[in-house]
Amino acid sequence: MSIHFDASARVLTLRTASSSYQMQIDELGFLRHLYYGRDTGTADLRHLHRFYDLGFSGNHYEHRLERAPSPDTIPQEYASSGAGDYRVPAVVALTPSGHRGTDWRYVSHEITAGKYALAGLPSAYDNGGECETLTVTLRDAASGLTLRLHYGVFEALDIITRAAELQNDASVPVTLEKAASVCLDLPFGSWDLMHFHGRHCLERQPERLKLPHGVVSVGSERGMSSHQHNPFVILCDHAATEDAGDCIGLMLVYSGSFRCEIERSQTDSVRAVLGVSPLDFSWTLQPGETFTAPEVLLSCAEGLTRLSQQYHRFLRRNICRGRHHLARRPVLVNSWEAAYFDISADRLLALAREAKDVGAELFVLDDGWFRGRKDDNAGLGDWFENKEKLPHGLGDLVSRITALGLQFGIWIEPEMVNENSDLYRAHPDWALTVPGRTPIMARNQLVLDMSRADVRDYLFDTLSALLREHDISYVKWDMNRSLSDVFSKALPAARQGEVLHRYVLGVYDLLERLTSAFPDVLFEGCAGGGGRFDAGMLCYVPQIWLSDDTDPIERLKIQRGTSFGYPMSAMGAHVSASPNHQTGRTTPMETRAVVAMAGAFGYELDLTKLSPEEKDAIRAQIRRFRADEDVVQNGLYYRLTDETNTWFTAWQTVSEDQSRSIVSLVVQNVEPYKSAPHLRLKGLDPDAVYEIEEDNIAVSGAALMYAGYTMARMLGDYPAAQLHLKKKEGESQ
Ligand code: DGJ
Repeated sequence: MSIHFDASARVLTLRTASSSYQMQIDELGFLRHLYYGRDTGTADLRHLHRFYDLGFSGNHYEHRLERAPSPDTIPQEYASSGAGDYRVPAVVALTPSGHRGTDWRYVSHEITAGKYALAGLPSAYDNGGECETLTVTLRDAASGLTLRLHYGVFEALDIITRAAELQNDASVPVTLEKAASVCLDLPFGSWDLMHFHGRHCLERQPERLKLPHGVVSVGSERGMSSHQHNPFVILCDHAATEDAGDCIGLMLVYSGSFRCEIERSQTDSVRAVLGVSPLDFSWTLQPGETFTAPEVLLSCAEGLTRLSQQYHRFLRRNICRGRHHLARRPVLVNSWEAAYFDISADRLLALAREAKDVGAELFVLDDGWFRGRKDDNAGLGDWFENKEKLPHGLGDLVSRITALGLQFGIWIEPEMVNENSDLYRAHPDWALTVPGRTPIMARNQLVLDMSRADVRDYLFDTLSALLREHDISYVKWDMNRSLSDVFSKALPAARQGEVLHRYVLGVYDLLERLTSAFPDVLFEGCAGGGGRFDAGMLCYVPQIWLSDDTDPIERLKIQRGTSFGYPMSAMGAHVSASPNHQTGRTTPMETRAVVAMAGAFGYELDLTKLSPEEKDAIRAQIRRFRADEDVVQNGLYYRLTDETNTWFTAWQTVSEDQSRSIVSLVVQNVEPYKSAPHLRLKGLDPDAVYEIEEDNIAVSGAALMYAGYTMARMLGDYPAAQLHLKKKEGESQ
C-alpha cells in the first residue's frame, strides 16, 4: 500500500520507494501539508513541526481566542487568496458575491487502485498495478465550489502526480481567474531554485539561484511552453550536488502558457505554485461544470542525477505512449538543412539514395513540399501536394523512396496558416486575430484557432487523407510562432479569457485523434526546434526536435540542460553540415556524431556532397549507434561535468543491469600543455571488472569511479571521444 490513512490522527501518507508525502486534515477541516521529502515511513509528523501566530497575519475565527497558528504560516495543499494566507495562491475564484476568496474545508477522501484520468488533458498512465490514487474532496461553502485534489502514487518509480479539479456546485456561474495545478509548501530548509531558460536556438539552460524573499516567477505567456522557459523546475537544498542533497522536481504536463511562482515568505518557508498562466485567463463555470487543471509530476531524490533519472524513466514508460515509445527509433535523414525550400523530385531522390546507401532507415521530407509553398510566406494550411515542385505527384515520390527500402516521413505545421493560402482565403475567421486590429505576424504566418471544432475537423480530415493516401511512417509536427491576438470569433466576449487554454486543449484533441487513427506512424514534435519541449507533448510524440541550433558545441549545452528533466530518447538530434549553418563553426564529423548519438539520432545535411571517406564514416557511425542505442536510450544517464567546466563536456550512460556503459566526451576549448581530461565515472558496479574497449584494459568499477580514468590527450578543433565499457562476466575485484 503506497497510501496510508491514520484515521485517529487524520493523517494521510503517500509513500514511494524513497520518499514520503504527508498531509493532515486538521480540526477545522483544512488540508494541511506536513511533509514532502526523503522517506520517513508513515511516522506521524504532526507534532514535529511547530507553527505560530504571526502579527498582521490573522487567525481562523474558531481560534480567535487562543491565537492558534495563522493560516499565513501553515503549509497548505491548495492555497486560496482572500482567506488569511497572504502567500501566492493556487486559486483565485470570482464568486457570485463578487468576493475572490475561497476557504476549502475537507469533505471526504478516497483511495483507489490505479491512476485517475483527466478529461481532455494528457496525463501519466499506469502500466498495470503501478499506481494508487488518493482523491481528497474539499468544499468552499460561500461560493459553492468543490475542489478535488488527485494524487497518483507511483511507488516503485518515485513519482507522485498531482492534479486539481474545480466544480461549480452553486446555482449561479463562478469565474476562475487562476486555477493552478499544484501548490507545494516546504516549511523548512534552505532552498535553491533551478529553472531552465533560453531562447530560440538555445533552449533549456539551467539557472540556479538562492531564493530571495518575495516571489520569483518564471513562465510563458506565448500560448506554448516556449523556448524561453520550461514548465519544469527543481527545488534543491542549497548544498545539493549531482550526488547528494534533497532535490524536488515539479514538471507540468502542459504545452501552453504556464506560470511557476516560488515564494520565500517572511518565515523563510517556501511555496511553489505551478499551473496554467493566470495572465489573460478566466474560465467561467456554469452550474455543474468542472475545470480540470493539468497534471504535475512531482519527484524527490537525493542528488540531481537521481532526480533526473527518475524523470527519464517515468517519461519514457508512463508519459510517452503508443507503439514507438519504447521501440528502437529509425535512423533518419531529414531534407531541411540539406535543401531547405529548394526541393525537387530529383534532388530528393538523390538524397534518399545516399540515405539508403549509408544505412539510414527513414527519409524525412521537411518543409516546402505542399501547395503554394515556394518559401515561408505562403501555403500553410493547404496540406495537398505541390505539382510545381513534384510534377509526378507526392505519391510517386513516396513510392520511389519506399521502393529504395526506406521509410518515408513528412513535415506538417497544422496549427498555422499563411494569408497567402486557399485555406485562409476561404476561412479568414479561422485565424486568431482581433477585430479591427492588424495582427502581429511571425514568419509571416497566423495561428489557427484550435479552440474551434470546425478547424480541428478540417485538419483531421485533410491530414488523415494525406496519411491514408501515402505510405507515410513518420510525421514531424512543427509549430513556428508564439501566439498573439488571442481572440476567437467563435466565442462570446465573456469567454475570450478561455481561448489560450482552449487552444491547447484543441491541439491535444487533434493529436489524440490523429495518433489514435494512425498508431503505426511515429510522430515527432517540434516548435522551431525545442519551443514546445514538455511532458504534455510527450504524451503524443515520443521524440521532439531539440533545437534549431544543430551546432554540436551549442548542442552540448542544450542537451545537458534538457537532461535535467527529459530522457535522451525524447531528444531529436542530428548530424548537420560543417561549417554549421547557425554558427558557422567547423567541427569534426566524429564530434557531430558523438553529440547526436545522445538522442533520437539522424542526419540533416546534403549527403550528395560528401566524400567517400565521409560516407564511410557515416556508415560506421550508424552501425555504432545501432550497437549502443539500447544503453543510450534506456540506460541511466550521468552528467560528468558541470557548466563551470569550459574545457570539456562529458556524460555517461549505464545499462540498468550495470553490464554496459558508454562514456562520451567533447573538448570545447583546447588548452595546450594541460593534462588530458580526467573523468571519475559513475553508476558502475564497484565490485565488477569492466573492460574498456578503446584501451584494452580491464579494471574494477570501483577504480573507475573513485580513482578515475584519464583520457588520451585530445588536441585540435573540438575533438570527441567515446569509451565503451563491458562488464567481464564472472570476474570481480
Ligand atoms: C523549424 C524546424 O525546427 C526546422 O527543423 C524546420 O522543420 C523548419 N521549421 C521548417 O520550416
